[in-house]
Amino acid sequence: MWLRVNRQHHDRDGWLAKLTDSGRLAHPAADAPDALRLESPAPVSQLPGFDQGWLTVQDLSAQRCALLLEPQNGEQILDLCAAPGGKTTHLLEVAPEAQVLAVDVDAQRLKRADENLQRLGMKAEVKQGDGRTPQQWCGERQFDRILLDAPCSATGVIRRHPDIKWLRRDRDIAELAKLQSEILDAVWPHLKPGGTLLYATCSILPEENHQQIEAFLQRQSDAEAQPLRDAPASGWQVFPEAEGGDGFFYAKLIKKPDAN
Ligand SMILES: C[S@@+](CC[C@H](N)C(=O)[O-])C[C@H]1O[C@@H](n2cnc3c(N)ncnc32)[C@H](O)[C@@H]1O
Repeated sequence: MWLRVNRQHHDRDGWLAKLTDSGRLAHPAADAPDALRLESPAPVSQLPGFDQGWLTVQDLSAQRCALLLEPQNGEQILDLCAAPGGKTTHLLEVAPEAQVLAVDVDAQRLKRADENLQRLGMKAEVKQGDGRTPQQWCGERQFDRILLDAPCSATGVIRRHPDIKWLRRDRDIAELAKLQSEILDAVWPHLKPGGTLLYATCSILPEENHQQIEAFLQRQSDAEAQPLRDAPASGWQVFPEAEGGDGFFYAKLIKKPDAN
């Protein structure tokens, strides 16, 4: 069970001291400054300050998304496929003065995004909409940064949701890859020249990850991939680790500054 300490309330060490006083142990992640792994899972009501918005339950790998996107105060940021808002609130913890638009196709899941924003005392514009038709919910608006946490096979989180092995069908992968490419192509014109799009999935399948981004780069001549860590430019694939995060994929795409 991973936690994200809300840096607007406490730094990680400060909150860890409160947790230790309450008799629990947790371990900080080396590469994510807000992340702590609880030694043993616990009900959130027993963790100091949960109701006051001091922390969020979020896997380590999911926490890397907002960090890799590097949101800045004052920027216009689109969080697409945002519900239930786990990454929306992290974006606002990192850049509280950013203007965040959170969009998802699922109205029920968006209600949970509203609840999470409320619990953490944050404001974002929340809209229901389909990522394949952005003009319907944002007109011609362009953003400095876009987080696309794409719908995917969730093959990187099977340890948390073992029914995925049972429910997934072979044909789902091609359908999901098509949906991901349609959303990518539709939202790309809404990124400002010089802007950054972080594409993320909790999948470990190349069709949804490296192959998806390689095909996108072939289609979009104004897109450049920025390598993350020691990974190839087409993205960084992380596999689940026993004391680490879930399986995840991240690709950082920059729109060439002279595009449009
Ligand atoms: C991986 S989950 C998002 C998790 C979320 N970003 C968070 O951190 O809490 C993927 C989301 O994509 C949404 N989705 C699926 N198809 C979509 C579409 N065509 N347009 C927009 N959202 C879509 C789903 O409703 C789901 O909430």
